[in-house]
Amino acid sequence: MSSRNARTAVVTGGNSGIGRAVAGALAGTGTRLVIAGRREEANRRTADDLRERHGVEVEPVTADVSREADCIALISRAAERFGAIDLLINNAGIGTWDTIAETATEDFDRVLKTNLYGAFWCAREAFRRMRENPEVAGLRGSIVNIASVAGKEAWSGPGTCCRVTGASTPTGSWV
Ligand SMILES: NC(=O)c1ccc[n+]([C@@H]2O[C@H](COP(=O)([O-])OP(=O)(O)OC[C@H]3O[C@@H](n4cnc5c(N)ncnc54)[C@H](OP(=O)(O)O)[C@@H]3O)[C@@H](O)[C@H]2O)c1
Repeated sequence: MSSRNARTAVVTGGNSGIGRAVAGALAGTGTRLVIAGRREEANRRTADDLRERHGVEVEPVTADVSREADCIALISRAAERFGAIDLLINNAGIGTWDTIAETATEDFDRVLKTNLYGAFWCAREAFRRMRENPEVAGLRGSIVNIASVAGKEAWSGPGTCCRVTGASTPTGSWV
């Protein structure tokens, strides 16, 4: 497989859990980062920590990926700050543990807007920027979607999680 070193990466949900771990690993390679989440303070603390530990530039952006305008503003901010985006990690995600029978339409809608639409809106905006990047090793950028095995193997229980992650799996694409 071809490779293209990431110089600037956007990590949605970068202030916690898997996203924070991915952001840390990227910072360790010298990648400049934009981390996004709804909680401004958590974003700021994570950015401060990554900067201090790895000496890389990190921009915290408050964004709710379930809103199209926030996704557009997030990717625009990253491009404005660093000039180009090489890697997008669509990691922000939520779930409910209700069964299908118990799932309210508003909850299904909230998960869909965050996990599926949010990933699409961020990917679309990132793609529009990445196609301007110079080609390196056959690539202009990379987009990685963090989903769940629940999208491949459904089980009785987390109905909303299984349906939505199923829609957003498989988990990687190249631009
Ligand atoms: N951990 C697991 O076992 C597991 C299993 C299957 C799939 N996954 C998937 O892996 C990803 C990360 O999971 P995790 O366990 O690391 O989750 P987590 O610790 O709960 O973190 C979720 C992250 O997403 C952000 N987020 C949630 N809703 C958002 C929104 N509307 N806009 C912007 N950011 C939002 C949160 O930040 P704010 O709260 O600041 O918005 C937080 O940074 C998710 O997509 C999840 O579905 C995880």
